[in-house]
Amino acid sequence: MTLETEAFRFSQFGAPDVLSRQRHALTDPLDGEIQIRHLAIGVNYIDIYHRRGVYAAPLTLPSGLGIEGVGVITALGEGVAGLAVGQRVAYVGGPPGAYATFRNLPAARALAVPDGLDSTVVAALVLKGLTVEYLIHRCVSVAKGDIVLFHAAAGGVGSIACQWLKHIGATVIGTVGSEDKAEIARANGCDYAIVYAKEDFKARVAQITGGKGVRVVYDSVGADTFAKSLDCLRPRGTLVSFGEASGPVDPLSVASLGGKGSLFVTRPSIAHYTADRSEYEAAARNLFSAIEAGIVKAPNASKYKLSDAVKAHEDMEARRTHGSVILIPDGL
Ligand SMILES: NC(=O)c1ccc[n+]([C@@H]2O[C@H](COP(=O)([O-])OP(=O)(O)OC[C@H]3O[C@@H](n4cnc5c(N)ncnc54)[C@H](OP(=O)(O)O)[C@@H]3O)[C@@H](O)[C@H]2O)c1
Repeated sequence: MTLETEAFRFSQFGAPDVLSRQRHALTDPLDGEIQIRHLAIGVNYIDIYHRRGVYAAPLTLPSGLGIEGVGVITALGEGVAGLAVGQRVAYVGGPPGAYATFRNLPAARALAVPDGLDSTVVAALVLKGLTVEYLIHRCVSVAKGDIVLFHAAAGGVGSIACQWLKHIGATVIGTVGSEDKAEIARANGCDYAIVYAKEDFKARVAQITGGKGVRVVYDSVGADTFAKSLDCLRPRGTLVSFGEASGPVDPLSVASLGGKGSLFVTRPSIAHYTADRSEYEAAARNLFSAIEAGIVKAPNASKYKLSDAVKAHEDMEARRTHGSVILIPDGL
């Protein structure tokens, strides 16, 4: 049965106001797809890159936006097994289109949500938590005693990373944009919070580590931090460049990594760490167990009505948000 959805779409790349709220008919789910009614939607900095068209492979326009949500299954396409109408599921990835009341998506992206977990908590945690899961366990395996530098430590991903890294027994040095955010990072387990707008984080990391440097730097800020991040590493350390909130990173001379201490650099994406269904499910189990065990708590989520998605983007880009940002369909 065809139903109407209210969705944000855009037909040109640009500022938040390219997003327009539209009602349109949603077709039945195709083979291998499910249809869901959203209960909560996660907003991610990746959505901003998609909207701006800055990814190496920008979206095909016109497009929907958003790659994270929690909802109830309202219909199943042909060939979908193991899922049922009425079941609550979460998802990460698939074609952008989460900023909508109803949507269709590939069933392979659906994850069963444990009963005890509130939908808003899951929407605040699932993409960001799965990102942290692969960053600290599979991209690099962080161990007790490691010293780690994590940029944007009070953001959505950063707030979860600080908690999980602390639980592992790592020493966490975080960078943040303001004193308020420093407090939030510390509350999440960050041992040293550096306000990088005021303090030179490279000098401060050298001071904290007695000149030795850190084993891993997680850098999602990009242009403003990348070069100094390399200089914070100890010999044989790893720079994980996983985002570019301040702009793209300049080209890197591979030879320079030798001179700086046999360094490793990787540019990972959650897409490649959750593409395989069994890895995706194992990562989700690891995350949901960490939530249930209290290792990872939902960062204070800033909630916006779905109809206020443009405002959510404006606030996130202006660095006014901390923790996770979620959208709740109007009327829920
Ligand atoms: N590769 C992957 O698999 C993957 C997956 C998920 C997320 N990510 C990346 O992880 C990062 C965090 O994602 P998120 O959704 O949790 O966002 P977020 O951390 O809540 O927001 C981005 C933060 O970046 C910091 N920032 C530094 N310079 C900035 C600038 N010029 N403009 C805007 N923000 C700036 C701000 O924190 P301060 O004010 O404290 O500096 C801001 O709050 C993003 O870069 C995202 O693309 C990557």
